[in-house]
Amino acid sequence: MSQLFSGYDLAGLQLDNRIVMAPMTRSRAVNTVPDSETALYYQQRAGAGLIVSEGSQISRQGVGYLFTPGIHAPEQIEGWKKVTQAVHDANGRIFCQIWHVGRISHVTLQEDGAAPASSSAKTAEGTLSFAYNQEGKPDYMQASQPRALDIEEIAGVVQDFARAGANAIAAGFDGIEIHGANGYLIEQFINAGVNTRDDAYGGATIESRLRFVLEVVDAVAAKIGSQRVGIRLAPLNRIFDMPAFEQERETWLELARLLSSKNLAYVHISNRAAIIASPNGRAFLEQFRQTYKGTLVLAGEYTKEQAEQDLDANLADLIAFGRPYISNPDLAERLQNDWPLTEPDRSTFYGGTNVGYTDYVTYDVTAES
Ligand SMILES: Cc1cc2nc3c(=O)[nH]c(=O)nc-3n(C[C@H](O)[C@H](O)[C@H](O)COP(=O)(O)O)c2cc1C
Repeated sequence: MSQLFSGYDLAGLQLDNRIVMAPMTRSRAVNTVPDSETALYYQQRAGAGLIVSEGSQISRQGVGYLFTPGIHAPEQIEGWKKVTQAVHDANGRIFCQIWHVGRISHVTLQEDGAAPASSSAKTAEGTLSFAYNQEGKPDYMQASQPRALDIEEIAGVVQDFARAGANAIAAGFDGIEIHGANGYLIEQFINAGVNTRDDAYGGATIESRLRFVLEVVDAVAAKIGSQRVGIRLAPLNRIFDMPAFEQERETWLELARLLSSKNLAYVHISNRAAIIASPNGRAFLEQFRQTYKGTLVLAGEYTKEQAEQDLDANLADLIAFGRPYISNPDLAERLQNDWPLTEPDRSTFYGGTNVGYTDYVTYDVTAES
């Protein structure tokens, strides 16, 4: 039998299969609170071995897009309870992705029109936030110039992550995933091209640029237990204006080495396809796999065939699917039975109604000719 459909013990949490639903922002949380439609959306997808929720901001400062849910206020925790209950009722498992966008934000989203917070004052050129335009209407806006967090403020942001982790557990999640990928705040500290600080959290040394992410991991683990904590990373990422930098591969491998001793639920790499496409990318992924001694999840343009290949080659333990999960709520079952997949409609990825959200149907076997 294919490994993809065999169970997996994720730090004591039994998963029915090795298929993960990747975190996907759907921007349907008016007032930042998940509602019953969100609960239905996730419940429909509970056949995944593990669901990782869409990114949920840890604080008001951490928001970068309108209509994304939060995990810092009581009403948000109440909203998420409906979601976790619905998923558990369907025998699913769900982690909450906790998120601070850093510089990928806009002054109209920040308290009193403040500049977004980052590791440095470098703007993410050519990168959009979903905020308000000059007429006060929701619109895609160039991310504003950020300000560098003062060294005294950093501990507060670390605590925001820890509190969000505790809130997620209070909301009934099985664990949390720290969003350290895709050019957001944590990566803004790791990347030497963005992090131009000259204090203990930046500068030339790998150790100082990894200080923030490691403090976040330790603080969340101290609050909820390391076995309930996963982290998502995007090594060699170039989206959202993240430049190449010296000792880049060494930086990521050092992080993999240091995370190995943290006894986490997993490390999740979001950009497998992009890494593979980079020079010696496959070798780098293999090195990462050898260096990180725990459960590894890979995501990025997976098909069933590629997923099985990578599991067979022991490149990963679990495989995450993103876009296919938008339009195939029963993806695991479809893959297992080799049923055809429905293509997602990109125009309804973000925002709007239940159209393109909860109206994708499960495969109808009786309709087969
Ligand atoms: C609509 C959409 C929203 C996404 N939102 C998030 C997010 O909130 N957090 C995250 O880490 N990745 C996010 N991603 C990236 C996905 O988790 C995944 O890594 C990516 O889509 C590649 O997997 P795929 O090729 O199977 O879609 C998003 C992707 C899409 C298409």
